[in-house]
Amino acid sequence: MSDPIYDERYARPGLYWGSKPTGLARDLVRIARSLPRRPRTLVDLGSGEGRDAIYFGRQGYRVLGVDISSVGVRKAEQRASRLGVNARFLVGDIRTYRLRAPVDVVFSSGVLNNLPRRIRAARFEHFKTSTVPGGINAMNADVPKPYIPPSTTNPHASPFRSGELLGYYGDWQILDSGQVEFVSHSGGVPHRKAMDVVIARRPEANA
Ligand SMILES: C[S@@+](CC[C@H](N)C(=O)[O-])C[C@H]1O[C@@H](n2cnc3c(N)ncnc32)[C@H](O)[C@@H]1O
Repeated sequence: MSDPIYDERYARPGLYWGSKPTGLARDLVRIARSLPRRPRTLVDLGSGEGRDAIYFGRQGYRVLGVDISSVGVRKAEQRASRLGVNARFLVGDIRTYRLRAPVDVVFSSGVLNNLPRRIRAARFEHFKTSTVPGGINAMNADVPKPYIPPSTTNPHASPFRSGELLGYYGDWQILDSGQVEFVSHSGGVPHRKAMDVVIARRPEANA
C-alpha cells in the first residue's frame, strides 16, 4: 500500500512537515490534562513522518500511527527509534482501516479530506465507536472558502462542507471547535487554506 505523492515527498532528505507538532496535537495534549481521567492510548490516523505521534509518545501516550505511505511509516519508525520514543507505526488506509480495540483518543490532522464523501458517515461512526466512553476525538479537515482559490495537489482529496466535521459529533461533548486559516507550504507553493477543527469527548457510559 502506498501513495506516490507522499512517498516521493517523504523519500526526500529531512522532514517534509518539519519536526514540530501540529497546533491540533498541542491543543489536544493541553485539553486532555484538564480531564478527570487522563487519556493514555492514542491512534494517529495519517501520521505521515510521525511528528505528532512522536510528540504524543514523549507526553506519555501509548501511540499507534497509521499512514498509507510506507515510506512515511518507515521514516517515522526510524525517527522514533533514534529518539528513543515509544511509538508504533503501521501502513493502513483510513478508508478501510479498522481499529482492533477501543482507544482513549482517535486523532487525525491534515488527512480526513482523503475520505470520499459516500463513506464519511460510516468511517466517523467507526472512529467514534472505537473510542472508549469518556475518550476523545481530535480532528481537522480542509474546507473551501469563496475568497481562497482552490489549490490542492492531492487528486484524492475532497473538501468538507463548512461545519460538516462538527456535525459528526452532535451527540458528543464539544471541548473545542472552530475554523483556522493559515498558509500551507505543501507542494512547494505557499497557499492559503481554511480548516475546521473539532476536539470532542464521548459521553461516559452512565451519563
Ligand atoms: C498533509 S499530510 C499530514 C501528515 C501528518 N498528519 C502531519 O501533520 O504531519 C497527509 C497524510 O495523509 C496520508 N494519507 C493520505 N491518504 C491516506 C489514506 N487513505 N489512508 C491513510 N493515510 C493517508 C498521507 O500519506 C500523508 O502522510
